[in-house]
Amino acid sequence: MPIEFAERTRRIPVYPLAAGYDLGADVAMLASNESCFAPLPAVVEAASRVLGGTNRYPDPAYAPLRGALADRYGVPPQRIALGNGSCDILLAAGEALLEPGAEIVYAWPAFSVYPHLAAASGARAIQVGLDAEDRHDLDAIAAEITVATRLVLICNPNNPTSTALGLDEIDAFLGRVPGHVCVILDEAYCEFALTLGDTYASLELLRKHPNLVLLRTFSKVYGLAGLRVGYALCGTEDFRVAVDQVRQPFYLNAAAQAAAVEALRHQDEVERRVTETVAERLAMEDQARGLGLWVARSDANFIWLHLPEALAEADVVSGLRDRGVLVRAGAALGRERSLRVTVGTAAENERFGDALAAVLGNSLGV
Ligand SMILES: Cc1ncc(COP(=O)(O)O)c(C=O)c1O
Repeated sequence: MPIEFAERTRRIPVYPLAAGYDLGADVAMLASNESCFAPLPAVVEAASRVLGGTNRYPDPAYAPLRGALADRYGVPPQRIALGNGSCDILLAAGEALLEPGAEIVYAWPAFSVYPHLAAASGARAIQVGLDAEDRHDLDAIAAEITVATRLVLICNPNNPTSTALGLDEIDAFLGRVPGHVCVILDEAYCEFALTLGDTYASLELLRKHPNLVLLRTFSKVYGLAGLRVGYALCGTEDFRVAVDQVRQPFYLNAAAQAAAVEALRHQDEVERRVTETVAERLAMEDQARGLGLWVARSDANFIWLHLPEALAEADVVSGLRDRGVLVRAGAALGRERSLRVTVGTAAENERFGDALAAVLGNSLGV
């Protein structure tokens, strides 16, 4: 007899991993929005140094990392949640806030983990379509908020569409959301967003709206995706207490904590990497537009493009894969006939551009 699993387990969508993901192969890995830059040597050293003491559990208060984030952003440590990746905090928020009868509202397509929250909790998910430029439609989202709403997710810049809204618009939206509804502003890519100014700008919103949570990660700009560290700057301590309550203790390992603390000390290098990534991104956008494709205005470390009707998305993705370039197919992310392409090294991006031109040339005679 097979094992009998909980009904909710059948409801939870399986996370769409990139096809052909192979860390050892000679491929341009442009499918997972990671950083193409390795962690700095000082960060690797800091993580390595703590390994000798890992017979002990990690610091349960996460004091050095909380302290470093508190110093950097001027948010008290009690209002900083940490997690095994920002996904960990997101899923914990679902567990802490949602239940059958409750509602969660978010734009779609957005981050592919969002549907997990309703499926796991039994809450109702309300997915709101994007506008014509593939941006969040905040009026439409506001219109879906009811007495049952517990959680609203705004992904800014949005994954997979790369677009960002200005903070003025978000501020006005937050002014329309009742104070008991938690709003998570998922800022996984905020460091790359020219539209947002700098990473301090959204802190002003936190001061004005205590129901707001700014969700961020070390997986992208800090290049620590393999260690899994995320954090949330919270409008109130209640949110941090709730997400800690529903999780296992010691959710953030010692090496990840040490690496994150060290990574924060190298902001000059972070800025240099952002500048390089943005320059490469603009070149990739231009090239894809030059091939006649619609490309969203990106504020992230990836681009999002639409394919013409005449092309089958799967053929384009496999054509790119045959040429050693892994990208993410839009169908798996909520919109067919689209591609999400991470900005890689200059050589990888060139490989992508050449491969795309060849695939389109074969199929459309471009
Ligand atoms: C919008 C968004 N939020 C959150 C995450 C989760 O990042 P992590 O769990 O690695 O911190 C990702 C990762 O791709 C993302 O795209």
